Amino acid sequence: MLAVLMLEQTVQIVSNERDTDSYFRLVLRAPLIAPLIQPGQFAHVRVWPLKDALLRRPFSIFQVSGDTFSILYKTVGKGTDALARLGVGEELSVIAPLGHGFTVPERGGETPLLVAGGYGMAAMYLLAQRSPQRGIVFVGGRRRVDILCETEFRALGWDVRVTTEDGSHGEKGLVTEPLIAELRRKPPVPHRKVFACGPTGMLKAVGKIAEEYNVPAELSMDEHMCCGVGVCLTCVIPVKTGNGWEYQRTCTEGPVFEARQVEWEETR
Ligand SMILES: Cc1cc2nc3c(=O)[nH]c(=O)nc-3n(C[C@H](O)[C@H](O)[C@H](O)COP(=O)(O)OP(=O)(O)OC[C@H]3O[C@@H](n4cnc5c(N)ncnc54)[C@H](O)[C@@H]3O)c2cc1C
Ligand code: FES
Repeated sequence: MLAVLMLEQTVQIVSNERDTDSYFRLVLRAPLIAPLIQPGQFAHVRVWPLKDALLRRPFSIFQVSGDTFSILYKTVGKGTDALARLGVGEELSVIAPLGHGFTVPERGGETPLLVAGGYGMAAMYLLAQRSPQRGIVFVGGRRRVDILCETEFRALGWDVRVTTEDGSHGEKGLVTEPLIAELRRKPPVPHRKVFACGPTGMLKAVGKIAEEYNVPAELSMDEHMCCGVGVCLTCVIPVKTGNGWEYQRTCTEGPVFEARQVEWEETR
Protein backbone atom coordinates (compact mmCIF):
# COMPACT_ATOMS: atom_id res chain seq x y z
CA MET A 1 0.00 0.00 0.00
CA LEU A 2 1.16 3.53 -0.79
CA ALA A 3 1.58 6.72 1.21
CA VAL A 4 -0.94 9.40 0.25
CA LEU A 5 0.08 12.80 -1.07
CA MET A 6 -2.89 14.86 -2.27
CA LEU A 7 -3.60 18.35 -3.53
CA GLU A 8 -6.66 20.59 -3.82
CA GLN A 9 -6.56 22.37 -7.16
CA THR A 10 -8.78 24.30 -9.53
CA VAL A 11 -8.30 22.55 -12.84
CA GLN A 12 -9.44 23.20 -16.40
CA ILE A 13 -11.55 20.91 -18.56
CA VAL A 14 -9.68 19.79 -21.68
CA SER A 15 -12.59 17.70 -22.98
CA ASN A 16 -15.83 16.22 -21.70
CA GLU A 17 -17.34 13.86 -24.25
CA ARG A 18 -19.95 11.13 -24.31
CA ASP A 19 -18.48 7.61 -24.47
CA THR A 20 -21.48 5.29 -24.75
CA ASP A 21 -25.08 5.90 -23.66
CA SER A 22 -24.87 7.60 -20.23
CA TYR A 23 -21.07 7.35 -19.84
CA PHE A 24 -18.76 10.34 -20.35
CA ARG A 25 -15.00 10.87 -20.42
CA LEU A 26 -13.72 14.00 -18.72
CA VAL A 27 -10.12 15.08 -19.26
CA LEU A 28 -8.64 17.64 -16.82
CA ARG A 29 -5.41 19.59 -17.06
CA ALA A 30 -3.74 19.10 -13.67
CA PRO A 31 0.06 19.27 -13.98
CA LEU A 32 0.72 19.03 -10.24
CA ILE A 33 -1.67 16.14 -9.64
CA ALA A 34 -1.12 13.94 -12.71
CA PRO A 35 2.42 12.76 -11.82
CA LEU A 36 1.33 11.71 -8.30
CA ILE A 37 -1.45 9.35 -9.35
CA GLN A 38 -1.27 5.63 -8.56
CA PRO A 39 -3.64 2.98 -9.96
CA GLY A 40 -6.89 2.67 -8.00
CA GLN A 41 -6.78 6.17 -6.49
CA PHE A 42 -9.65 8.60 -6.90
CA ALA A 43 -10.39 12.30 -7.35
CA HIS A 44 -12.96 14.17 -5.28
CA VAL A 45 -14.64 16.63 -7.62
CA ARG A 46 -16.63 19.72 -6.73
CA VAL A 47 -19.07 20.54 -9.49
CA TRP A 48 -19.33 24.33 -9.28
CA PRO A 49 -22.70 24.80 -11.05
CA LEU A 50 -24.39 22.59 -8.46
CA LYS A 51 -25.66 25.32 -6.13
CA ASP A 52 -27.77 23.11 -3.85
CA ALA A 53 -25.17 20.40 -3.37
CA LEU A 54 -21.83 21.41 -1.96
CA LEU A 55 -20.56 17.89 -1.56
CA ARG A 56 -17.85 16.70 -3.85
CA ARG A 57 -18.31 13.56 -5.96
CA PRO A 58 -15.67 10.78 -5.93
CA PHE A 59 -14.45 9.23 -9.21
CA SER A 60 -11.71 6.72 -9.91
CA ILE A 61 -8.84 8.12 -11.89
CA PHE A 62 -9.11 6.47 -15.26
CA GLN A 63 -6.11 7.54 -17.37
CA VAL A 64 -3.07 9.79 -16.99
CA SER A 65 -1.33 11.42 -19.92
CA GLY A 66 1.35 14.09 -19.53
CA ASP A 67 -0.11 16.90 -17.42
CA THR A 68 -3.70 15.63 -17.68
CA PHE A 69 -5.79 12.95 -16.03
CA SER A 70 -9.24 11.70 -16.91
CA ILE A 71 -12.29 10.17 -15.32
CA LEU A 72 -14.89 7.94 -16.91
CA TYR A 73 -18.27 8.61 -15.36
CA LYS A 74 -21.87 7.51 -15.62
CA THR A 75 -24.65 10.08 -15.26
CA VAL A 76 -26.80 8.86 -12.39
CA GLY A 77 -27.99 12.01 -10.58
CA LYS A 78 -27.68 15.76 -10.18
CA GLY A 79 -23.91 15.91 -9.73
CA THR A 80 -23.01 13.78 -12.72
CA ASP A 81 -25.76 15.39 -14.85
CA ALA A 82 -24.30 18.83 -14.06
CA LEU A 83 -20.81 17.51 -14.81
CA ALA A 84 -21.95 16.27 -18.23
CA ARG A 85 -23.10 19.79 -19.16
CA LEU A 86 -19.68 21.37 -18.58
CA GLY A 87 -17.56 22.32 -21.56
CA VAL A 88 -13.96 22.80 -22.61
CA GLY A 89 -12.16 25.56 -20.68
CA GLU A 90 -14.55 25.51 -17.70
CA GLU A 91 -13.08 24.85 -14.27
CA LEU A 92 -13.59 22.34 -11.48
CA SER A 93 -12.14 22.02 -8.02
CA VAL A 94 -10.57 18.62 -7.39
CA ILE A 95 -8.82 17.00 -4.45
CA ALA A 96 -6.56 14.26 -5.78
CA PRO A 97 -5.04 11.78 -5.80
CA LEU A 98 -6.91 10.25 -2.85
CA GLY A 99 -6.94 6.85 -1.16
CA HIS A 100 -4.81 3.74 -1.18
CA GLY A 101 -4.86 2.15 -4.60
CA PHE A 102 -4.00 -1.27 -6.01
CA THR A 103 -0.64 -2.94 -5.45
CA VAL A 104 0.93 -2.96 -8.91
CA PRO A 105 2.44 -6.42 -9.60
CA GLU A 106 6.24 -6.51 -9.71
CA ARG A 107 8.13 -7.70 -12.77
CA GLY A 108 8.06 -11.51 -12.78
CA GLY A 109 5.41 -11.43 -10.00
CA GLU A 110 1.72 -12.20 -10.06
CA THR A 111 -0.34 -12.64 -13.21
CA PRO A 112 -3.21 -10.16 -12.81
CA LEU A 113 -6.82 -11.17 -13.32
CA LEU A 114 -8.85 -7.96 -13.40
CA VAL A 115 -12.61 -8.11 -12.80
CA ALA A 116 -14.75 -5.06 -13.52
CA GLY A 117 -18.44 -4.28 -13.55
CA GLY A 118 -19.70 -1.15 -15.37
CA TYR A 119 -17.71 1.97 -14.48
CA GLY A 120 -15.40 -0.29 -12.41
CA MET A 121 -13.35 -0.51 -15.62
CA ALA A 122 -12.23 3.07 -14.93
CA ALA A 123 -10.29 2.01 -11.83
CA MET A 124 -8.54 -0.76 -13.77
CA TYR A 125 -6.94 0.99 -16.71
CA LEU A 126 -3.86 2.43 -14.98
CA LEU A 127 -3.27 -0.88 -13.21
CA ALA A 128 -3.34 -2.71 -16.55
CA GLN A 129 -1.09 -0.09 -18.13
CA ARG A 130 1.49 -0.11 -15.32
CA SER A 131 1.54 -3.85 -14.65
CA PRO A 132 4.71 -5.41 -16.14
CA GLN A 133 2.75 -8.65 -16.71
CA ARG A 134 -0.23 -8.75 -19.05
CA GLY A 135 -3.20 -10.74 -17.77
CA ILE A 136 -6.90 -11.20 -18.30
CA VAL A 137 -9.62 -8.56 -17.91
CA PHE A 138 -13.08 -9.91 -17.11
CA VAL A 139 -15.57 -7.17 -17.86
CA GLY A 140 -19.26 -7.41 -17.21
CA GLY A 141 -22.32 -5.24 -17.53
CA ARG A 142 -26.07 -5.38 -17.97
CA ARG A 143 -26.03 -4.44 -21.66
CA ARG A 144 -23.56 -3.81 -24.48
CA VAL A 145 -23.44 -0.09 -23.65
CA ASP A 146 -22.17 -0.91 -20.14
CA ILE A 147 -19.02 -2.54 -21.56
CA LEU A 148 -16.39 0.20 -21.48
CA CYS A 149 -12.83 0.50 -22.85
CA GLU A 150 -12.71 -2.98 -24.38
CA THR A 151 -10.61 -1.79 -27.31
CA GLU A 152 -8.22 0.14 -25.06
CA PHE A 153 -7.49 -2.89 -22.89
CA ARG A 154 -6.92 -5.03 -25.98
CA ALA A 155 -4.56 -2.33 -27.29
CA LEU A 156 -2.53 -2.76 -24.08
CA GLY A 157 -2.14 -6.43 -25.00
CA TRP A 158 -4.60 -7.81 -22.45
CA ASP A 159 -6.94 -10.75 -23.00
CA VAL A 160 -10.44 -9.24 -22.57
CA ARG A 161 -13.38 -11.54 -21.70
CA VAL A 162 -16.76 -9.84 -21.96
CA THR A 163 -20.07 -10.88 -20.39
CA THR A 164 -23.42 -9.11 -20.53
CA GLU A 165 -26.51 -10.04 -18.56
CA ASP A 166 -28.75 -9.69 -21.62
CA GLY A 167 -26.29 -11.45 -23.95
CA SER A 168 -26.06 -8.43 -26.29
CA HIS A 169 -22.24 -8.61 -26.28
CA GLY A 170 -19.77 -11.34 -25.32
CA GLU A 171 -21.00 -14.32 -23.28
CA LYS A 172 -24.42 -14.11 -21.68
CA GLY A 173 -24.20 -14.17 -17.89
CA LEU A 174 -22.35 -12.69 -14.95
CA VAL A 175 -18.73 -11.58 -14.98
CA THR A 176 -17.94 -14.09 -12.23
CA GLU A 177 -18.70 -17.06 -14.51
CA PRO A 178 -15.65 -16.77 -16.82
CA LEU A 179 -13.57 -15.89 -13.75
CA ILE A 180 -14.51 -19.20 -12.12
CA ALA A 181 -13.83 -21.04 -15.39
CA GLU A 182 -10.36 -19.48 -15.50
CA LEU A 183 -9.61 -20.33 -11.87
CA ARG A 184 -10.65 -23.95 -12.54
CA ARG A 185 -8.38 -24.22 -15.58
CA LYS A 186 -5.78 -27.00 -15.40
CA PRO A 187 -2.90 -26.45 -15.24
CA PRO A 188 -3.54 -23.08 -13.59
CA VAL A 189 -1.66 -19.93 -14.57
CA PRO A 190 1.02 -19.59 -11.84
CA HIS A 191 0.90 -16.78 -9.25
CA ARG A 192 -2.56 -15.48 -10.09
CA LYS A 193 -3.94 -12.46 -8.30
CA VAL A 194 -7.41 -10.97 -8.65
CA PHE A 195 -8.12 -7.21 -8.68
CA ALA A 196 -11.73 -6.05 -8.80
CA CYS A 197 -13.89 -2.93 -8.93
CA GLY A 198 -17.64 -2.76 -9.41
CA PRO A 199 -20.94 -3.02 -7.54
CA THR A 200 -20.77 -4.31 -3.95
CA GLY A 201 -22.62 -7.54 -4.82
CA MET A 202 -20.05 -8.32 -7.50
CA LEU A 203 -17.16 -7.54 -5.15
CA LYS A 204 -18.59 -9.81 -2.47
CA ALA A 205 -18.95 -12.65 -5.00
CA VAL A 206 -15.41 -12.09 -6.32
CA GLY A 207 -14.01 -12.03 -2.76
CA LYS A 208 -15.70 -15.36 -1.95
CA ILE A 209 -14.53 -16.94 -5.22
CA ALA A 210 -10.94 -15.82 -4.59
CA GLU A 211 -11.08 -17.31 -1.11
CA GLU A 212 -12.53 -20.59 -2.41
CA TYR A 213 -9.74 -20.94 -5.00
CA ASN A 214 -7.09 -19.68 -2.57
CA VAL A 215 -6.09 -16.79 -4.82
CA PRO A 216 -5.15 -13.39 -3.31
CA ALA A 217 -7.48 -10.55 -4.25
CA GLU A 218 -7.70 -6.77 -3.89
CA LEU A 219 -11.12 -5.10 -4.08
CA SER A 220 -11.90 -1.41 -4.63
CA MET A 221 -14.77 -0.73 -2.22
CA ASP A 222 -16.61 2.29 -3.65
CA GLU A 223 -18.86 3.34 -0.76
CA HIS A 224 -20.85 6.57 -0.56
CA MET A 225 -18.48 9.35 0.49
CA CYS A 226 -18.89 12.88 1.83
CA CYS A 227 -15.58 14.47 2.85
CA GLY A 228 -13.27 12.01 1.02
CA VAL A 229 -10.40 12.80 3.37
CA GLY A 230 -11.07 10.76 6.50
CA VAL A 231 -13.11 13.16 8.65
CA CYS A 232 -16.86 12.42 8.37
CA LEU A 233 -16.89 8.59 8.67
CA THR A 234 -19.73 8.13 6.13
CA CYS A 235 -17.66 5.74 4.06
CA VAL A 236 -16.67 3.08 6.61
CA ILE A 237 -16.76 -0.68 6.08
CA PRO A 238 -16.11 -3.48 8.59
CA VAL A 239 -12.57 -4.83 8.30
CA LYS A 240 -11.22 -7.91 10.11
CA THR A 241 -8.64 -7.42 12.84
CA GLY A 242 -6.68 -9.92 14.94
CA ASN A 243 -9.53 -10.38 17.44
CA GLY A 244 -12.68 -9.33 15.59
CA TRP A 245 -13.39 -6.44 13.26
CA GLU A 246 -13.39 -2.65 13.18
CA TYR A 247 -14.72 0.05 10.88
CA GLN A 248 -12.19 1.50 8.47
CA ARG A 249 -12.62 4.45 6.11
CA THR A 250 -12.75 3.54 2.44
CA CYS A 251 -11.59 7.05 1.51
CA THR A 252 -8.30 6.83 3.42
CA GLU A 253 -7.56 3.22 4.43
CA GLY A 254 -9.18 2.20 1.10
CA PRO A 255 -10.79 2.25 -1.36
CA VAL A 256 -8.67 -0.84 -2.11
CA PHE A 257 -8.67 -3.57 0.53
CA GLU A 258 -7.43 -7.13 0.48
CA ALA A 259 -10.51 -9.30 -0.03
CA ARG A 260 -9.73 -11.47 3.00
CA GLN A 261 -9.77 -8.32 5.20
CA VAL A 262 -13.40 -7.43 4.45
CA GLU A 263 -15.90 -8.62 7.06
CA TRP A 264 -18.82 -9.30 4.70
CA GLU A 265 -21.10 -10.60 7.47
CA GLU A 266 -21.17 -7.10 8.97
CA THR A 267 -21.49 -5.07 5.74
CA ARG A 268 -24.64 -2.93 5.34
C1 LIG B 1 -13.95 5.69 -4.68
C2 LIG B 1 -15.10 5.87 -5.67
C3 LIG B 1 -14.83 5.82 -7.02
C4 LIG B 1 -15.86 6.02 -7.94
N1 LIG B 1 -15.54 5.99 -9.26
C5 LIG B 1 -16.50 6.24 -10.17
C6 LIG B 1 -16.16 6.24 -11.57
O1 LIG B 1 -15.00 6.03 -11.95
N2 LIG B 1 -17.16 6.51 -12.45
C7 LIG B 1 -18.47 6.73 -12.04
O2 LIG B 1 -19.34 6.94 -12.88
N3 LIG B 1 -18.79 6.73 -10.73
C8 LIG B 1 -17.85 6.50 -9.79
N4 LIG B 1 -18.19 6.49 -8.46
C9 LIG B 1 -19.60 6.75 -8.07
C10 LIG B 1 -19.87 8.23 -8.15
O3 LIG B 1 -19.18 8.89 -7.10
C11 LIG B 1 -21.38 8.50 -8.01
O4 LIG B 1 -22.06 7.93 -9.09
C12 LIG B 1 -21.64 10.01 -7.98
O5 LIG B 1 -21.16 10.55 -6.77
C13 LIG B 1 -23.13 10.25 -8.08
O6 LIG B 1 -23.34 11.66 -7.94
P1 LIG B 1 -24.70 12.31 -8.43
O7 LIG B 1 -24.86 13.63 -7.76
O8 LIG B 1 -24.81 12.29 -9.91
O9 LIG B 1 -25.79 11.28 -7.92
P2 LIG B 1 -26.72 11.42 -6.62
O10 LIG B 1 -27.87 12.30 -6.99
O11 LIG B 1 -25.92 11.74 -5.40
O12 LIG B 1 -27.19 9.89 -6.53
C14 LIG B 1 -27.81 9.27 -7.67
C15 LIG B 1 -27.73 7.76 -7.50
O13 LIG B 1 -26.33 7.32 -7.51
C16 LIG B 1 -26.10 6.55 -6.34
N5 LIG B 1 -24.71 6.78 -5.85
C17 LIG B 1 -24.23 7.92 -5.35
N6 LIG B 1 -22.95 7.74 -4.93
C18 LIG B 1 -22.66 6.44 -5.15
C19 LIG B 1 -21.53 5.61 -4.91
N7 LIG B 1 -20.43 6.05 -4.31
N8 LIG B 1 -21.57 4.32 -5.30
C20 LIG B 1 -22.68 3.82 -5.87
N9 LIG B 1 -23.79 4.55 -6.11
C21 LIG B 1 -23.78 5.83 -5.76
C22 LIG B 1 -27.13 7.03 -5.33
O14 LIG B 1 -27.40 6.03 -4.37
C23 LIG B 1 -28.34 7.28 -6.19
O15 LIG B 1 -29.04 6.09 -6.47
C24 LIG B 1 -17.20 6.25 -7.51
C25 LIG B 1 -17.47 6.28 -6.13
C26 LIG B 1 -16.44 6.08 -5.24
C27 LIG B 1 -16.73 6.13 -3.77
S1 FES C 1 -15.77 10.12 3.19
FE1 FES C 1 -15.51 11.21 5.05
S2 FES C 1 -14.34 9.80 6.25
FE2 FES C 1 -14.46 8.84 4.32
